[in-house]
Parts: sequence; C-alpha cells; structure tokens
Amino acid sequence: MNNDTQQASLAATTDREAVIRVRGLRTQFGTQVVHEGLNLDVWRGEVLGIVGGSGTGKSVLLRTIVGLNKPAAGEIEVLGVDVLNGPEDDRRRIERHWGVAFQDGALFSSLTVLQNVMAPLREHTGLSEKLMESLGALKISLVGLPQLSCGKFPSELSGGMRKRAALARALALDPEIVFLDEPTAGLDPIGAAAYDELIGELQQALGLTVFMVTHDLDSLYAICDRVAVLAEKRVLVEGPIEDMTKVDHPWVQEYFTGPRARAAQQKGQNR
Ligand SMILES: Nc1ncnc2c1ncn2[C@@H]1O[C@H](COP(=O)(O)OP(=O)(O)O)[C@@H](O)[C@H]1O
Ligand SMILES: [Mg+2]
Repeated sequence: MNNDTQQASLAATTDREAVIRVRGLRTQFGTQVVHEGLNLDVWRGEVLGIVGGSGTGKSVLLRTIVGLNKPAAGEIEVLGVDVLNGPEDDRRRIERHWGVAFQDGALFSSLTVLQNVMAPLREHTGLSEKLMESLGALKISLVGLPQLSCGKFPSELSGGMRKRAALARALALDPEIVFLDEPTAGLDPIGAAAYDELIGELQQALGLTVFMVTHDLDSLYAICDRVAVLAEKRVLVEGPIEDMTKVDHPWVQEYFTGPRARAAQQKGQNR
C-alpha cells in the first residue's frame, strides 16, 4: 500500500459527518514548509488524537484550523463554514461553536479563574454580569474544580488545576468542538488519567467532538476513537489505534509498537 491509499482506506467511513474538513493544506514560515498537501477529516462526536514527532506541526495545525495562523494554500471547513475565505459573519459565528485549550493552558494571568472562564462569554454574548458569573461557576464545577478556585489567579493553582481551568474556559460557550493541545503534558500519571477520564465523560455527556494533540500514549488508548499521525508534512495515516501497528513507517512503528505503547495498551484494556 502506498501512503495515499493507506490514508484513504483507513479513513474509509461511510455516512459520518465531517465537522472539520481540511484539504490540500500548506503552511509555511518563511522558507520552512510545515504542512504540504495535508488532508484531514474529523467526524462528529469522535475523540481524535493528533500525534507526531516534536516539531511536525501539530500545534500549527490546530492554530491554523481555529484561524490563528494563515496557511499558504488549502481549504478548511468547520461545521460547513469556509473558515479561510468565508464571509466574516460566518467565521465569527462559527468561533462560538468551538473552544480551545492551548498548550500550557494560556490563561490570562491577571484574571481570576472565574474571570478567565467568563472571557469568551463576555466576548461573544450579551449576557448580564450576574448570569456570566453563574455560567462561569457552573463550568468550573463541571471540570471538577472546587468553587474556591473561582477567585484564585492562575499562578495560585497547580498545573493540573490550570489545565482544568483552561478546559472550563474552552467549554464556556457550550461548544460542539473542543481543541486541546497536549492537555496532559506535565501532569503526573494519576493527574493525567483523571484528566482523560474527565474528557471522556464530558465527551459522552455533551456529545463533544474532541481534537486532541497529544503524545500521551495512555490518553490515546484510554479515550481516542481514532488517531491521525502527522509525518512528512501531512497526515500520513488516520484510523483506529489498533491499525497503527500495521503502518509501514519507521516513526509510526517505533511509536506504536515500542515498550511504552505496549504498557499503555495494557492499561487501556484494564479500564
Ligand atoms: N509562529 C511561528 N513562526 C515561525 N515558525 C513557527 C511558528 N510556529 C511554529 N513554527 C515552527 O513550525 C514547526 C512546527 O511547530 P509546532 O506545530 O509547534 O510543532 P509540534 O508538532 O511540536 O506542535 C516548528 O519547526 C516550529 O518551529
Ligand atoms: Mg505543539
């Protein structure tokens, strides 16, 4: 199988709705080409894990899809809206339907947790202060943070709590799609497992579609329905994690058949 037929056959899924559709994407910084001819579909209601070596362009892909990085070529559709060239009104409207938790949380350090979670509400809704506060507090409890954390500043929280606060902010507008960039990086294994469990529960309860950049094999086995591997400037292969061991590519082989993968698979099965 060459790589293109490999991608096509593993992605062959019949009547699913693509909530994100990327075609022929090229991104570059100066002369450095990060993505070339990248195609990707994300199906409604799935948890998709984006993996790939360091610097392969996982974060850039996420940022490009949410409109923070302008690609050199290609098409990106989110929930049927052309996010690159569509009408400004449509693009603005669509922003309300996704939430993003960036790598390292990226909370506003001068705002309390509650104010951070209220920020998207302030930007996109005309709700009263009181209602925004109540909704913000609700999201904070939804992600398992004590109400006490509402008035704290990000610097006063542990790493794991900051990740949850960032998730609460991503959920502020009741999005259909959540983008997470390395959400469990820097957490201890117990904290990471608890976070995975939370994402899995929220995904089920809220019917979210989750686009999760991760290198955490435990997360991939625990909660991802499918995996997309970034290599050679594009999505080399996408499909269920079990299929990844059959992919004939050195990085994919090493990543998915190494000792860490075997341990993660065991753990995933024991859940
Ligand atoms: N704003 C930027 N300006 C210039 N180069 C960038 C920028 N953002 C990312 N890059 C480069 O693009 C490549 C992919 O980065 P990134 O998506 O962050 O990798 P990762 O897969 O580890 O998340 C890296 O070589 C990085 O240095
Ligand atoms: Mg990154």
